[in-house]
Amino acid sequence: MTDRTAEPHERRILGTELLWAFGVGVLIAATLGMIVFTALTGDINPPSNVEQIDPKTLHLSGEFAEHNLGTTVAPDGRVTVRVITTQFMFVPRCIAVPRGRPVTLRFATPDVVHGLLITGTNVNTMVVPGYVAQVHTEFARAGDLLMPCHEYCGLGHSEMWANVQVLPDDQFKPGQDGRVSCAQR
Ligand code: CUA
Repeated sequence: MTDRTAEPHERRILGTELLWAFGVGVLIAATLGMIVFTALTGDINPPSNVEQIDPKTLHLSGEFAEHNLGTTVAPDGRVTVRVITTQFMFVPRCIAVPRGRPVTLRFATPDVVHGLLITGTNVNTMVVPGYVAQVHTEFARAGDLLMPCHEYCGLGHSEMWANVQVLPDDQFKPGQDGRVSCAQR
């Protein structure tokens, strides 16, 4: 003879399991929804361009050679900033960017993994040896921002940070070569 008490018991277990499954399903949907929402509205997404660069030679020639670092405005108006992150500083230590215009930031490191963010913006990326880290952003307000290294990279990690000057249009003036440096203050 079967045990008649088992059936309601099992039904209760099934009910609890389904309730948990529903709850977890709602959480997963909410999390994914938030990721998609912030990606579409705030440009917040994992930096995902897989672009390789030789960390041993990146400072010698090509895009990340010293004379090419900092802010450049292309003839078509596109603004690109190139920065090397290295133990224990950013090169250059200060970058000038325009307010209210799309800016592409490109980072590379010759030594170890660094990370960076720019306070109050969506800029937040790791910089991994062998790869170019690229971030697109737009700076809403003029003013000075900080760009600290946020990935422990050695004893001088806490000393590693840079300044970002967000300049209004009348102060963001590229020179003949299309380059813009930080204003001296
Ligand atoms: Cu570079 Cu911490």
